[in-house]
Amino acid sequence: MSDLVWQHMNLCPGGDPGTVISDAALAVRDGRIMWLGAASDLPREFAAWPREDLGGAWVTPSLVDCHTHLVFGGHRADEFALRLAGASYEEIARRGGGIVSTVKATRAADENALFEAAAARLEPLLTEGVGAIEIKSGYGLELATERKMLRVARALGRRYPVSVYTTFLGAHALPPEYAGRADAYIDEVCNRMLPALADEGLVDAVDVFCERIGFTLAQSERVFEAAARHGLSVKMHAEQLSLSGGAALSARYRALSADHLEFLDEAGVQAMKEAGTVAVLLPGAYYFIRETQLPPIELLRRYEVPIALATDCNPGTSPAVSLLAMLNLGCTLFRLTVPEVLQGVTRHAARALGRSEHHGELAPGRQADFVAWSVTTLAELAYWIGRPLAARVVRAGATVY
Ligand code: NIG
Ligand code: FE
Repeated sequence: MSDLVWQHMNLCPGGDPGTVISDAALAVRDGRIMWLGAASDLPREFAAWPREDLGGAWVTPSLVDCHTHLVFGGHRADEFALRLAGASYEEIARRGGGIVSTVKATRAADENALFEAAAARLEPLLTEGVGAIEIKSGYGLELATERKMLRVARALGRRYPVSVYTTFLGAHALPPEYAGRADAYIDEVCNRMLPALADEGLVDAVDVFCERIGFTLAQSERVFEAAARHGLSVKMHAEQLSLSGGAALSARYRALSADHLEFLDEAGVQAMKEAGTVAVLLPGAYYFIRETQLPPIELLRRYEVPIALATDCNPGTSPAVSLLAMLNLGCTLFRLTVPEVLQGVTRHAARALGRSEHHGELAPGRQADFVAWSVTTLAELAYWIGRPLAARVVRAGATVY
């Protein structure tokens, strides 16, 4: 590692297009940012350092995908066909398809196969500019397979230039062997699975699917209490298909985020504001299951709840491997603004992971993780659909893509 001054760029250090430094410079030593600002203000101590010219590119912090189910076996293109023929996501789940069919495929896959399948989905995200990603378990629903998924997530973080944060989602669906015994399964999640996986260092946070086809408020609360006993932060799949009060419960447990939120009400928004819980919106899932209930964007704005956006990459509701595409969907479907979606995949997404100190912003002292975009305005990031825009992806000062 060495010293380098990156120059000739429009720098957007906070992910907010309102604050751009034109003709900026960025001094990096051993992978860390030493200084950033207008090139004309570059302090003398950096003047003699080698230079790297970015040719007038626009630079943002690396993107953060704060909600994914990237690791899973198989896919559900067959179920997609059923839905095209009229079946709803919820109907398919009730018939024993949906999440449970992915559970079968994930249990059957060995660790290598699972790694390769997930890597194929991770690569397009990374070349697009993602530098940090959350990966959930939740397709094992038994200790051994939940462990296998989380190990694969950790292994991806070692193999690829990305920070991986793992979330234990044991309470994603009721495994068939517990049919009619949901409380007994929650016992297993709280008393056996979570303690074991947390002890093995495989868990960074804990999530629950609180829904008619998931778990009740009371069951979700038991999982949150178990997480608290292990000193782990929580998040929730909340108010996705119906209003259950999950977001308000999450806020009571100081959740990092409540995610989906199409059916969120004002009381929930207010509770999230007071707790500092981030609203993670998943426009890919909204789009893919043809939801019509929009998340309460105006209320989230009025209460100034930070909004993040993520791919929710998963085989059932969002087979998406592009975070930039989510910017477009966030703007077109949710009427979010360009500054909102950009901060939604930088600053606010980092906060949804409880990692604001490490990701989502460029500042002296931080690791030099940034993307140089070949665009003429940052609005292009939300405008194009499916067009590669990252000219360079830099991690710890080194060009990785
Ligand atoms: O985020 N809602 C629950 N979990 C996922 C979907 C999982 C699946 O269908 O496989 C989601 O939408
Ligand atoms: Fe999800």
